[in-house]
Amino acid sequence: MKSFSNLSIVTHPLLSHSMNVLRDKRTATEAFRHHSAIASRILLMEATREMPTKDYPIETPLAPVIGQCIADPVVLIPVLRAGLAMLNAAQEFMPWASVGFIGLERDERTAIASTYYRKFPDRLAHRHIIVLDPMLATGGSLIDTIDALKAQGGVKLSAVCVVAAPEGVERLNAAYPDVSIVVGALDSHLDENKYIVPGLGDFGDRYFET
Ligand code: PRP
Ligand code: URA
Repeated sequence: MKSFSNLSIVTHPLLSHSMNVLRDKRTATEAFRHHSAIASRILLMEATREMPTKDYPIETPLAPVIGQCIADPVVLIPVLRAGLAMLNAAQEFMPWASVGFIGLERDERTAIASTYYRKFPDRLAHRHIIVLDPMLATGGSLIDTIDALKAQGGVKLSAVCVVAAPEGVERLNAAYPDVSIVVGALDSHLDENKYIVPGLGDFGDRYFET
C-alpha cells in the first residue's frame, strides 16, 4: 500500500470493532450513531496526542503543584452534515473549544462539493484547528474547507476522518502538505460514483436516516 507522509492510520481493537459495525450494511441507525461516537472518541484521542501543553500552577487541597493545560486555543470545524456526528465526541474532550461550521454538499452526478454555509470564529491564526469529517473521498470537500480556513488566517490545521480513500489523501497531501490527517482506515479506492470502496456507504444518510 502506498504511504503518505502526513497520514496517521489509528489502530485500536475497539476502533476496529466499531468500524466493522459502521461498515456493515445491516447496521441500524441507532447502532450506527453509537459506534460513530465511539470511533470519533478514539480518533480524537489520537489526533490530539501531540497537542502542546504548558505549565499551569494550581493548588490541590494538600499542596501547590505545577500542572499542565492545553497551550493553544482550539477550534473544532465539523463539515456539515456528516461532521456533526463527530462534534459531540470532540466537545466531550474539549468543552472549552470554539466551534465553527462549514456546509458542503457533493453533487451526486459530478461528486464536486459546493459550499452552502460558513461561519468561523475570528482570530484563526492563533488557534489549533481540527476539521471533523467522517469521509475523505475525492478530497474536494476537505480541500474547500481548508481553502476557506486558510483564507481566513488559519495556520495550524489537522483533519480527522473515519474512512479515507487513497485518491483523496493524495490530493489533500499535494494541496496542503502541512495539514495532518488522522483516519480510522485507508480503504482501497473510489468507485465510478466517487464512493469509497469498501467504505461504509453514504455516512450522512446513514447517520441522519435520510
Ligand atoms: C460527504 C462527506 C464528506 C464528503 C467527502 O458529504 O461527509 O463531506 O462527502 O467527499 P469528497 O472527499 O469527495 O468531497 P456529502 O457531500 O455527502 O454531504 P453530507 O455530509 O451532507 O451527507
Ligand atoms: N461520502 C460518503 O458519505 N461516502 C463516500 O463513500 C464518499 C463520500
